[in-house]
Amino acid sequence: MNKILLVFLLVLGFCSHGLGDSCPWPNGTDKALHWWLDPNNLVTIHDVQLYDANGNPEYPVNLLGQLYMTINLTYTGPAITNFRLDEDIAEWGGFSGDDCKWSDLPTFGLLSNLDACAQGFHCPFEPGNHILQLETDFTNYDVIINLLKNDTPYELTYDLTNKDTGDKIVIHAQARCITQNPTSAPKH
Ligand SMILES: *[C@@H]1O[C@H](CO)[C@@H](O)[C@H](O)[C@H]1NC(C)=O
Ligand SMILES: *[C@@H]1O[C@H](CO)[C@@H](O)[C@H](O)[C@H]1NC(C)=O
Repeated sequence: MNKILLVFLLVLGFCSHGLGDSCPWPNGTDKALHWWLDPNNLVTIHDVQLYDANGNPEYPVNLLGQLYMTINLTYTGPAITNFRLDEDIAEWGGFSGDDCKWSDLPTFGLLSNLDACAQGFHCPFEPGNHILQLETDFTNYDVIINLLKNDTPYELTYDLTNKDTGDKIVIHAQARCITQNPTSAPKH
């Protein structure tokens, strides 16, 4: 782990801890997953569901370990063979009302420039209806995730690019997330 990154994350973790308790849950995320698609004419999403490693529906979502997202979508563009995936994660917080905002977590630059074809999209990705299962594996980031604010909204963004045409499909998912291992010592 890059030391500067780690120090930054420590600071971020401590700063964010304790803040944001006065921020309302955005988009009903206290109760359920909220998702949407950036406007585009290539994809319609019918349904998004979250599952744990045992295939059980999961809410709130545990960010320690693997997270599985199943997406039922219809794609109408040309077949895609060079398919890039960038994932981003942001944390919700602030002091109150107008201050509440999403802040990107820099850690997950490690989730950039992935091959979507190896991440649940079967390539060539043909037009039609698809049931996709996307896995995000946070296992190796447990140390960092433990520093993040627990039981709070996080936003996961899947940014897909057809590298041959530049077409973009951007899916946002906001969810209430657990970042503390129940067996670890409680934080102050
Ligand atoms: C709530 O969801 C909408 C899309 O449904 C999005 O445009 C908006 O930015 C979200 N609000 C927050 C605070 O994230
Ligand atoms: C996917 O969504 C379509 C359109 O709503 C629906 O007809 C189909 O049954 C869904 N597939 C699954 C596996 O849920």
